[in-house]
Amino acid sequence: MIEIRSRHEINIMREAGLVIAECHQSLKDFIKPGITTMQIDEFVEDFIRKHKMEPAQKGYKGYPYASCTSVNDVICHGFPGSQRLKDGDIITVDMVTLHKGLHADSAWSYAVGEISDTARKLMDVTETALYKGIEVSVAGNRISDIGHAIQTYVEGEGFSVVRDFIGHGVGRKMHESPEVPHFGPPHKGPKIKKGMTFTIEPMVNTGTYNVSVDDDGWTARTADGGLSIQYEHTLVVTDNGPEILTKL
Ligand code: MF3
Ligand code: CO
Repeated sequence: MIEIRSRHEINIMREAGLVIAECHQSLKDFIKPGITTMQIDEFVEDFIRKHKMEPAQKGYKGYPYASCTSVNDVICHGFPGSQRLKDGDIITVDMVTLHKGLHADSAWSYAVGEISDTARKLMDVTETALYKGIEVSVAGNRISDIGHAIQTYVEGEGFSVVRDFIGHGVGRKMHESPEVPHFGPPHKGPKIKKGMTFTIEPMVNTGTYNVSVDDDGWTARTADGGLSIQYEHTLVVTDNGPEILTKL
């Protein structure tokens, strides 16, 4: 069952999304060489709570932190900790707000100081891939059109798309139907309809798309040690096409 959201629910999700967008905007200046990933997590948790929302990742299925901080070869679900960011690192920060019973979910990536040309290209391609997916999130298309658009573009740029983690419906629960893979053939899966709310969150690697999970049970790394980057928005399908809910 894929939920269709009311105008009222969408308004609440837009508020939940705006706080995430503002937090990501503030992180652009906050993230620099020398800070720890735990400082980022504290910043995120304070920011969300100051806006009277809940950091919904904290405690979700036992996940211990408000944010995921995924550095360099970490694909997603990186634990914040004592790791100090250094010049040349790339980091994805993922967060979810819970506001009046509804969720918004967005991850964004940041360059720490001066990064390599490869890392810069990986960031640009992954952000563009997200927007390629959003572009085809139009009523009448099918869910797999999203993944097809993303995979075709990313592989054309010489990178790979992670298979083990996918986008998802989001609303009263953090993870709902439908599943939104970032790869695969076109014209399959559920029809996209007005009022659906879901995430698109491609993770893109420089090398293999295979994943290896650390002993903590969460931290997911590239199997070959290559770099990985992720961008994620929550969106709602409207009569006028997709509307991004996690933007300024
Ligand atoms: N925000 C993540 C997503 O995009 C959720 C991570 S799982 C959590 O689906 F446990 F960290 F919350
Ligand atoms: Co998500």
